Amino acid sequence: MNLATQYLGLTLKNPLVASAAPSNADLGHLHRLEDAGAAAVVLPSLFEEQIASAGGHFDAILAAGADNNPEAHQHYLPPGRVTHGPYGLLPDRYLERVRRARESLSIPVIASLNGATPDGWADYGQRLQQAGAHALELNLYSVPTDLDESGEQIEARCLRVVHELRTQLDIPLAVKMSPYFTAVGNMALRFAEVGANGLVIFNRYLQPDIDLRTLSLSSDIALSQAADMRLPMQWVALLAGRVPVSLAASTGVETAEQVVKYLYAGADVVMTTSEVLRDGPDCFRRLLDGLCEWLDARDLGSPDRIRGAMSFARLKDPGAYARGHYIDALQTWTRSHRSV
Ligand SMILES: Cc1cc2nc3c(=O)[nH]c(=O)nc-3n(C[C@H](O)[C@H](O)[C@H](O)COP(=O)(O)O)c2cc1C
Repeated sequence: MNLATQYLGLTLKNPLVASAAPSNADLGHLHRLEDAGAAAVVLPSLFEEQIASAGGHFDAILAAGADNNPEAHQHYLPPGRVTHGPYGLLPDRYLERVRRARESLSIPVIASLNGATPDGWADYGQRLQQAGAHALELNLYSVPTDLDESGEQIEARCLRVVHELRTQLDIPLAVKMSPYFTAVGNMALRFAEVGANGLVIFNRYLQPDIDLRTLSLSSDIALSQAADMRLPMQWVALLAGRVPVSLAASTGVETAEQVVKYLYAGADVVMTTSEVLRDGPDCFRRLLDGLCEWLDARDLGSPDRIRGAMSFARLKDPGAYARGHYIDALQTWTRSHRSV
C-alpha cells in the first residue's frame, strides 16, 4: 500500500496528521504520535499575546490593533491574564521545543502561530523557521465583536497577516481558516494569492456557555464528534481541485470512516486533535489500519485513487453541495417522518 502524501510541498508517509493540541508540547507525546503512525505533527499555538507580553510590547500591539479597530482591546487578554501556554510555552521555550522536536522526530514538525492583527509579531515566524520548523500553520482566530467593522475590513486584516508572515518565511505556510467568512471559497483563493501554501479546513471556534448557577461564562471545550465533519467536508469538497493549495481537513474524526470520507471529498491530509485527546496517540494506528483495510478491500493501492473523487469539481451532479438538493431534502424529511 502506497500511502505517501504531498502536503504543503512536504512528502508525508501517509495522510494522517496530528493537529494542534496542548499535549503536542510534550516530546514524549510527540514520539508516541510518531510511533503510532502520525505523518506530521502540529505544535500547540504560540499566541500573539504571549509574544507581545514576553517582548514587553503588549501596549504597542494593542495600540496598533486599535488603529484598525477601536474595539481592538476586546479581542485580547490584558497582559496580566496572558497565560504561559501549555507546559509553560513562552516564546523562547517554544523555539526550544521546535528545535528539540525537529532534532528528535523523523516526521515533519509544523509550528503554529495564533494571531489576528498584522502588526508587531510576524517576525516571529522567521525565528520558528530558524528553529527548524518544516512549516508554519497560522491560526487567525478572532471573533468580530465590533459591529462597526465590516466583513471587507476583517478580510483585509486577515490577508495582511498572511502576507506579512509570507514575506518573513521561506518554509511553507498553512492558514487555519474560519468557516465564518461570507465567501469562504473566495477567501481561500485570496489566501492562496497572498502566499498561503495550504488551508486547514476549518478552525474550530469556542462558543462559551452560560453557567446558570454562577451566572458566568464557561469556556469548556467540547471534543468534536463525527457529525461535526459535515461543514468542513462540504468545503473541502467545494475547494478541492479549484484552489492552488494543499487542503487539510480538520474536525470530527473518530474512526477511519471519517478519514475515508475526507479523502473522497478531496483532502490532501486529514487531521485530528479530539480523537487523540479521547483515545490517546494510538488512535493513529487504528485510523491508519482502518484506512488501509478499507482501501485493500476494494483493491485500491493508494489514497490517491479516491482523493477528490467526490469533490464538487469531479462529480457529475454536485448539486447537493450547493442549493441543489436543499428543497428536496427538507420536503423528503417531512414526508418520511409524517408516517412515523
Ligand atoms: C484542548 C484543545 C486545544 C487546542 N489547542 C489549539 C492550539 O493551540 N492551536 C490551534 O490552532 N488549534 C488548537 N486546537 C484546535 C485543534 O487543533 C483542532 O483544529 C480542532 O479541535 C478541531 O479538530 P478535532 O475535531 O480533531 O478536535 C485545540 C483543540 C483542543 C480540543
